[in-house]
Amino acid sequence: MRKFKQQRIILTIAICSLCVWFLVGYTNQSTRPDITTNLLNVAHRGASGFAPENTQASFRKGIEMGADFLEFDVHLSKDGEPVIIHDERVDRTTNGKGFVKDLTLAELKELDVGGSFDPNFTGETIMTLAELLEEFYGEVGLLIEIKKPELYPGIEEKVVEALTVYQDVSGIIIQSFDIDSMRKVHSLLPEVQVAILMNPSPFLPSSKTLKELTSFASYINFNVSYVNKRVVDQVHKHDGKVLVWSKKDTQLFAKAKRFGVDGVISDFSKLPMDEPAFLATK
Ligand code: G3P
Ligand code: CA
Repeated sequence: MRKFKQQRIILTIAICSLCVWFLVGYTNQSTRPDITTNLLNVAHRGASGFAPENTQASFRKGIEMGADFLEFDVHLSKDGEPVIIHDERVDRTTNGKGFVKDLTLAELKELDVGGSFDPNFTGETIMTLAELLEEFYGEVGLLIEIKKPELYPGIEEKVVEALTVYQDVSGIIIQSFDIDSMRKVHSLLPEVQVAILMNPSPFLPSSKTLKELTSFASYINFNVSYVNKRVVDQVHKHDGKVLVWSKKDTQLFAKAKRFGVDGVISDFSKLPMDEPAFLATK
């Protein structure tokens, strides 16, 4: 019984310390000047608040609205072609069913990817990475997210191969939640910048972890609800940059500014900050 009480006290102290630590980082207001206009403006899955995500229409709209970068997601088709779609399955965003990995490129190309967003977009099809590069390379920055690399052995080589057509990759960033995958991309093509997407968690990465990650990654990207100014400062100390995104947080831009990040990934690829909400859809 006494042991149980002691354990409860230790747990309470640990939770309180965690809260204080998090709040200190949260309330520590930035002393940087107003950097809003210097924030990189990244169109999440294209301007996906205005057009079906990850389509030519949403990418074009993102550029029209002033995006510096287009963010998009890559999976591999059954026959090994890098294709632009967010989910492992086609069900949510197309008129088809099944896993991307079980469908050939020809089968994926048959699917409509616009109609479920709005009938006016009927006829949009899934783009390949090669098609996207052909159309948008050089016009805007490209933030390529490799999705679920564990499902697609060799996806890193395929993505890098698609890029080797282009000599200058300075306007391209490759990101993933999978750290090993990004290490692999870095070793395959050190000229391209890589970014680590941190899994949303109240347990923020330690200084040691950030140092290690920034030894090969140019960016460490966070869900805006799971980062604070202290962590952003640490990434900057190691010469890294930070992008933030959110699916729910209406304070995305306000927090981005307060934390002093380098850019924001949002569905509304338009500044200024007084837009009502910058939310990612699901
Ligand atoms: O770029 C950040 C963001 O895209 C990660 O989440 O699910 O939208 O790919 P998700
Ligand atoms: Ca993404």
